[in-house]
Amino acid sequence: MSIRCNRVLMIVLLAVAALVSWPIENRVSAAEGAQPAQWRLIWTTDPATSATLAWSTSLAGKEHRVHLRQEGSDQVVAIEAYRNGRYSGKSPELYYHYVKFDDLQPATKYHVEIESDGNRSRSMFFITAPDEDVPFSILFGADSRSGLQERRKMNAMLSNMVTESYQGDRAPILAFVHAGDFIVNGLKLDQWSVWMSDHELTVGDDGRLLPIIPARGNHDVGEIFNEVFAFPAKEQTNYYAINLSPEVRMVTLNSETSIAGDQTKWLATELADSRPKNRWLLAQYHRPAFPAVKRPAISLLYWVPLFEEYNVDMACEGDGHNIKRTPPIRASKIDPTGVTYIGEGGLGVGQRTPDTERWYLRPPHAKTGSEHHVQLLTFDKEKLMYRVVLFGGEVFDEHTLAVRPAEQRAAKVSK
Ligand SMILES: [Fe+2]
Repeated sequence: MSIRCNRVLMIVLLAVAALVSWPIENRVSAAEGAQPAQWRLIWTTDPATSATLAWSTSLAGKEHRVHLRQEGSDQVVAIEAYRNGRYSGKSPELYYHYVKFDDLQPATKYHVEIESDGNRSRSMFFITAPDEDVPFSILFGADSRSGLQERRKMNAMLSNMVTESYQGDRAPILAFVHAGDFIVNGLKLDQWSVWMSDHELTVGDDGRLLPIIPARGNHDVGEIFNEVFAFPAKEQTNYYAINLSPEVRMVTLNSETSIAGDQTKWLATELADSRPKNRWLLAQYHRPAFPAVKRPAISLLYWVPLFEEYNVDMACEGDGHNIKRTPPIRASKIDPTGVTYIGEGGLGVGQRTPDTERWYLRPPHAKTGSEHHVQLLTFDKEKLMYRVVLFGGEVFDEHTLAVRPAEQRAAKVSK
């Protein structure tokens, strides 16, 4: 065997050894037969009172339901899946199932067990969003499409961060906002299947489900995205807005469909309505308007003027594969009343080098980097605390936004 062949073999063996050494099999259930697996708790409607639990089975099965019990109650309610079907894509053979929880109590713990044809999942739980104005945190990230070892490591870290956030009197992490590019090729079910299995690693050892708030990325083309996140069949829009508390609103946009037209009209109406009602107003979407590596998306022309008109506090972007925090921006200038843009995806994917010559990326007003990361946003009455957390828990960047004066939150900025 040649030296070159030996070297290739060695690389392959090292890669396999690295894969085997990660004890993922201990924490991820296999989708076998009608055994429930690949669970996702999804927040695309009011998370104080509702949630969707989605899961997969390898066989179609006949009966699919979730057993729901409110903390402190003995009463278990069985809720039948409202939709079941086979995922698009040729292989593997895999079926989705959705249960929608409505009329939940805010800030309340609910225990769940998933059942498909008599096979039950382990017992898990989730907590609904608060209806009171209390401090809390969310995780923001994007781009988990490749770098699978790093993705698994990241998911395990997210799970630990969530568990720790509920200890002591910290602001607990309520949800995981994911700005897209979950997989490399959205038409390939085998890639989605691995992503869904890996997502189980975000579940705590205690069974705590981490709700996900998904946005569509440019790699997430096709129908499987809708099926993974329980959007209606053939949905093209995938944009929506939810309150994470009475004073924090997250607007999820879709940079992979028509940006202008209906979506921009919807955004204008949404921001006009939600700005005066919320202390913190954020948006998330995949392709950046103020990119650190690529060219700006056309949202720069359509969404950014609305963000500025309605004083959005922070826009969370993906796609670039780097760490980025801009200064507050208004009318293409640094302006303390402007919008702060963060991003751009590091949940596994290899990192790129930001172009720090761009006016909105120059230090000391901006901070950029190129490491795997997740962004932790903590909200309270006075400030929004932003932190970039790397593997091992190191904080790469920390920044505070002060709450806007009441007059900036009450009305739009006149042009
Ligand atoms: Fe992307």
